[in-house]
Amino acid sequence: MERAREQAAAGGAQRAEGERSSEGPPRARDLTGAPLDSERSVEEGLRPRSLEEMVGQDRLRENLAVFVAAARERGEALDHLLFYGPPGLGKTSLAQIVAHEMGAQYRATSGPALERAGDLAGLLAKIEPGDVLFVDEVHRMPAVVEEILYPAMEDFRLDVIIGQGPTAQSVRLDLPRFTLVAATTRAGLLSAPLRDRFGWTARLDYYGRDELVAILERSARLLGVPLAGEAALEIARRSRGTPRIANRLLRRVRDFAEVQRRPVDRELARFGLERLEVDEAGFDALDRALLRTLVEKFDGGPVGIDTLSASIGEERGTLEDLVEPFLLQEGFLERTPRGRLATRRAWDHLGLTPPPSGRQGSLL
Ligand SMILES: Nc1ncnc2c1ncn2[C@@H]1O[C@H](COP(=O)(O)OP(=O)(O)OP(=O)(O)O)[C@@H](O)[C@H]1O
Ligand SMILES: [Mg+2]
Repeated sequence: MERAREQAAAGGAQRAEGERSSEGPPRARDLTGAPLDSERSVEEGLRPRSLEEMVGQDRLRENLAVFVAAARERGEALDHLLFYGPPGLGKTSLAQIVAHEMGAQYRATSGPALERAGDLAGLLAKIEPGDVLFVDEVHRMPAVVEEILYPAMEDFRLDVIIGQGPTAQSVRLDLPRFTLVAATTRAGLLSAPLRDRFGWTARLDYYGRDELVAILERSARLLGVPLAGEAALEIARRSRGTPRIANRLLRRVRDFAEVQRRPVDRELARFGLERLEVDEAGFDALDRALLRTLVEKFDGGPVGIDTLSASIGEERGTLEDLVEPFLLQEGFLERTPRGRLATRRAWDHLGLTPPPSGRQGSLL
């Protein structure tokens, strides 16, 4: 038994804690909710630490508070949780908050970091009672790793193979009760058996303007940047409902203020945001490229996502994950069985007039 545990622990320990996924080359884009490598340490400092400190996602926070209180009352580990939603809305922050609220130890890994079954077995073998194990980008976990996870989640059991060849034997380890918190931007890619093993699944939504203002004011306080005269509102309006983007724009605007030796007020914020080419709707060059291509090349659509992605010269996945969700949510774009369709709002935003035929499906 001990040997099994040691062997399992040795298996993937190097790959375990806190490792980040491989990110590929840094993007030129500022407005994806995806994190930039350069901002990770700043982000850590700005994360809300408790449910109380977290702004917005009210329903989710209320429910989570109940589950936490109930689990604590019973002296049990919390059920496994799955958070999903677009990047930068607070999934990782929530995982840390869960650990904090439960008074539990927090361990983190990610789907892409768990390449082999042993990587996960190694992590699980070190789990202590009540621990919160966070698996980011869980949709990118290989199938062989997923199979180790099922019995661990369901029966708190780890099956490991000891030795090789004809003498190999399977050994069962009992695990302490722990809480798996998983996050994904693509809930649709999770297998049904995995999805079924979470006790609670919650979606994070884009934040409202007032919530973003509150987040910006908190961040400004933490960063020691005094915000004057509606600067927060100006930034919030263009943050695509995403705290990560709000914080990022705040830091950029602060740079303009420092260089120009001016206070961060509404006027300075507007100036900075214009220089960053963030428009009134919070769109950047790629958002505008998508809308413009759709409207100018394809008469507003409908056009298939692959055709659109080829015309823009941007990967389909980037468009689907990072660009479209906000455009859809804000009613600039529609997804139809025949492809993407620009709404009246998109035409208006570009200062163009839709064709009179009314081919564009909606008069939003
Ligand atoms: N509700 C919130 N209140 C205050 N700040 C927040 C909130 N949600 C997110 N943030 C800020 O946004 C940043 C990004 O949040 P977080 O890393 O939790 O997002 P995420 O959903 O895990 O993103 P990804 O999908 O890219 O992993 C954090 O550093 C935090 O400062
Ligand atoms: Mg995250």
